[in-house]
Amino acid sequence: MNSLLLLGRQPALGLAELESLYGSSVLTNIGDQAVIVALDAAQIDFNRLGGATKLCRVVHELDTVQWRQVEKFLMQAAPRHASQLPEGKLTLGLSVQGFDVNIRQLEATGLNLKKVIRKTGRSVRLVPNKELELNTAQVHHNKLTGPMGWELVIVTDGDRTVIGQTVQVQDIASYTYRDRERPKRDARVGMLPPKLAQLLINLAVGPLSAAPAPAGQIILDPFCGTGVLLQEAALMGYTPYGTDLEQRMIDYSGLNFDWLNTQYRLNLPADFAKLAKGDATNFVWDMPVNYVAGETYLGKPFTRPPAAEALAQTVADCNLIIKKFLRNIHSQVPAGTRFCLAVPAWATTNAPAAFKILPLVDQISDLGYNRVSFEHAGNDELIYFRPDQYVARQLLVLVKQ
Ligand SMILES: C[S@@+](CC[C@H](N)C(=O)[O-])C[C@H]1O[C@@H](n2cnc3c(N)ncnc32)[C@H](O)[C@@H]1O
Repeated sequence: MNSLLLLGRQPALGLAELESLYGSSVLTNIGDQAVIVALDAAQIDFNRLGGATKLCRVVHELDTVQWRQVEKFLMQAAPRHASQLPEGKLTLGLSVQGFDVNIRQLEATGLNLKKVIRKTGRSVRLVPNKELELNTAQVHHNKLTGPMGWELVIVTDGDRTVIGQTVQVQDIASYTYRDRERPKRDARVGMLPPKLAQLLINLAVGPLSAAPAPAGQIILDPFCGTGVLLQEAALMGYTPYGTDLEQRMIDYSGLNFDWLNTQYRLNLPADFAKLAKGDATNFVWDMPVNYVAGETYLGKPFTRPPAAEALAQTVADCNLIIKKFLRNIHSQVPAGTRFCLAVPAWATTNAPAAFKILPLVDQISDLGYNRVSFEHAGNDELIYFRPDQYVARQLLVLVKQ
């Protein structure tokens, strides 16, 4: 049975992540914010995805794109579905994408559905929509993925309609907890969001069908800072290996790792995360390393566009450090090793967003790497960016030649 995934704020990142893990042939876009995956929901490791917000089991595909027709179908199907559920009060939620309906029309459909289900003798509560899509907190709070919950996600791209039932939503509270509550944070080195760290790992690991199980596989972050990526790697079951120029960062990564180990009851040995102080431009890593993923040096933490000379200097500094790192590690890892590096890019305009890119991005093959490209996302779209930021992160997915 197919699945439907709703994508995060930057859908291209979520599509590249899914393509990296599951291959392009299983993905079919539907609208701008969702994708149909030709896999059963149970085959999708949703917890490790940084770029998808909801996982749904596709329950029906319709040729119509008219809301009235969709509603008619739901009115027939809902009592049948409700009769298969355990005794008790049902909580119903509706989310839509791509339809020309407003919240009142959606609510009217919800109330009609409630009526037909009630007629079968079962009580139903409808979760009120604040937006056309229920957010993940509402789904969580109303237990819509539980045995007595039922969230229908209805998406159209103007040609056809897919109806999904939500089975899992992103655990925002857990992301926020590990992002905000870890003991050591450092605004100066930047704050890699845990979701983005997951994305980097998934882009580095590549097709899961060809990858060994995570246990014992080592992910190296050569610019580990406070260790966000190391933490996410451990949560996914990989062995994290972090190095950084500054001893303070290595100490922070160690303390943050101990905290995660306790808080998430991972029961890993105290020395499980391998940590060492080292300059990525000349360090010799303990091998083997299976994957390389990390957020490199991002240069001065500008919040606003600086003077042209200051920007040129930072671009040159970052370019040199990252280039030297790529040259240094090249002889240390086997051919075929995959990397995903978040490197800086600077927003020259906001809407539409345009970026100043590192010169090395055009010299990847001269440096002895191939850039991985994706069918469902252009390489120029793989830039993590918030409109209130000046320094963005460009995601480079590379394979050593
Ligand atoms: C943008 S931060 C990475 C932050 C990290 N993702 C985290 O979770 O905190 C870049 C890190 O690169 C380190 N760094 C800068 N130059 C380096 C070099 N030549 N070798 C290794 N680390 C370096 C800095 O100390 C900093 O911790």
